[in-house]
Amino acid sequence: MKLELKNITGGYMHGHDILQGVNLTVESGQAVGIIGLNGSGKSTLAKAVTNTLPFRRGGILIDGTDVSTRTAKELSDVGISLFLQGGRVFDDLSVMENLHFAAKSKTDLDEILSFFLFESDFLKRNADKLSGGQRHQLALAICLLRQPQLLILDEPSAGLSPQATEETYRILQNLRERKILTILLIEQNVSRAVEFCDKVNLLKNGVVAHATVSKNLKEIENVMFDK
Ligand SMILES: Nc1ncnc2c1ncn2[C@@H]1O[C@H](COP(=O)(O)OP(=O)(O)OP(=O)(O)O)[C@@H](O)[C@H]1O
Ligand SMILES: [Mg+2]
Repeated sequence: MKLELKNITGGYMHGHDILQGVNLTVESGQAVGIIGLNGSGKSTLAKAVTNTLPFRRGGILIDGTDVSTRTAKELSDVGISLFLQGGRVFDDLSVMENLHFAAKSKTDLDEILSFFLFESDFLKRNADKLSGGQRHQLALAICLLRQPQLLILDEPSAGLSPQATEETYRILQNLRERKILTILLIEQNVSRAVEFCDKVNLLKNGVVAHATVSKNLKEIENVMFDK
């Protein structure tokens, strides 16, 4: 699934644009990173792409078709998933019940369980008894069970321990090797984004200030910090 953003502009209040004309393309099967300082508009861009930003102008194209007027639900139905920290989890269900609820088939569920390697005690636990990091892992599993073709991840490692971060990226990498998945990855950790993505975009003052396929962190950080 190819994603094209054309001059995406907008924000939370009329007349107060956070995004100032974002242009970017994510080719089918590519992973493209969005990096930038706190408050640079990364999460706002994720909301703009999934049509959950109150004021948005500009074009969103999926495989060449303009989907800018589709609702968030319609975008989700065509295979676009947004993962946010503390994503959708049912508190009064166990981990396994949450997974069952999200899975379209037993094969999908088995595949996800083979990626996440959850222990049986963990699967039985009620979701409201999970730690922040455990809840985060469950939310990611639920998001992946929707079988997205385009996955937008807003800081999938925020608040996770180094081990859980490694585990999360191992799962995402594994998925990319198994199926054609297009990823827009918002990541605070520049080296992680550069390592995982085919290309990274630096967001600054609501526009893409720098886009590169280079793995040279120094070059990216120099633009990021105006050095
Ligand atoms: N719900 C909201 N209502 C009004 N303004 C908001 C809202 N959410 C974010 N903003 C503003 O939009 C700007 C961009 O915020 P955004 O959350 O997109 O940044 P970010 O790059 O994701 O930052 P971080 O790295 O801290 O997650 C900030 O100035 C912020 O104050
Ligand atoms: Mg953010």
